[in-house]
Amino acid sequence: MALLDVQHVDISYGNRLTVKDCNLSLGKGEICAIVGESGSGKTTVIRAVLGLLAGGGKVTAGDILYQDKSVLNLSKEQWNQLRGKEISMIFQDSGAMMNPTRTIGKVFVEYIRTHENISKNDAWAKGVEMLERMRLPNGDNIMKSYPFQLSGGMRQRVGIAMGMTYQPDLLLADEPTSALDVTTQAQIVRQFMELRDEYDTSMIVVTHNLGVAAYMADKIIVMKHGEIVECGDRERLLKHAKTEYTRQLLDAVPSLGGMRYV
Ligand SMILES: Nc1ncnc2c1ncn2[C@@H]1O[C@H](COP(=O)(O)OP(=O)(O)O)[C@@H](O)[C@H]1O
Ligand SMILES: [Mg+2]
Repeated sequence: MALLDVQHVDISYGNRLTVKDCNLSLGKGEICAIVGESGSGKTTVIRAVLGLLAGGGKVTAGDILYQDKSVLNLSKEQWNQLRGKEISMIFQDSGAMMNPTRTIGKVFVEYIRTHENISKNDAWAKGVEMLERMRLPNGDNIMKSYPFQLSGGMRQRVGIAMGMTYQPDLLLADEPTSALDVTTQAQIVRQFMELRDEYDTSMIVVTHNLGVAAYMADKIIVMKHGEIVECGDRERLLKHAKTEYTRQLLDAVPSLGGMRYV
């Protein structure tokens, strides 16, 4: 049984059809990368999976099944049950999503307390534990910091720590390493892989970096102008790219941590 099944989905903003006939099936512990140039619809697809389409975006055809149940018409309460606990999202720059005037600890404690009825002290301790699991030394200090006091890589680890607090079955990551230098990129990518190995988390990783996709993903979906132009197992796709577009993306692969992965 697939954990997530996106079936023939169309997505529109207003009356502009933006994503056409998107299909994606993800098993437990599987990692799928969505690659494609800017504006191809990658963010739109994963936001639809989390029921968080911005700007009046709507799924206008097809269905999205999570554990065999459609998520298209969930109530706010039902989404609150799923989001954060079973399905989590990590953004490109977790720091930019954070309120600059509030410390990491304040945000993290509040996040935990929306999901769990525990004391502030216990929530703080849980936050510290998660930060340290993400290899952020001295979690207590990080909790007391403001986002701008941390490096981009540290902020991204904080974002991942938050996203992993409840060991979600499905993690959606939108360009999680794009704002980082290559060395930090490689570290964060490895961290995602460790999370998958440890918790069997399924992941959809959106990236315009086919090198990251090639390194992480079991399967790769290539999007262009709102359509899937190619999809398949990593090996096949990388070795036998069918479209010129995929080959161009492959040729543009930058190095990841000093190594070319494809
Ligand atoms: N909130 C929105 N309102 C209207 N159009 C949007 C909105 N978000 C994205 N779009 C449009 O949808 C298309 C796909 O965007 P997006 O999913 O962000 O692509 P990607 O993540 O691949 O860069 C683009 O043409 C973009 O302009
Ligand atoms: Mg995007």
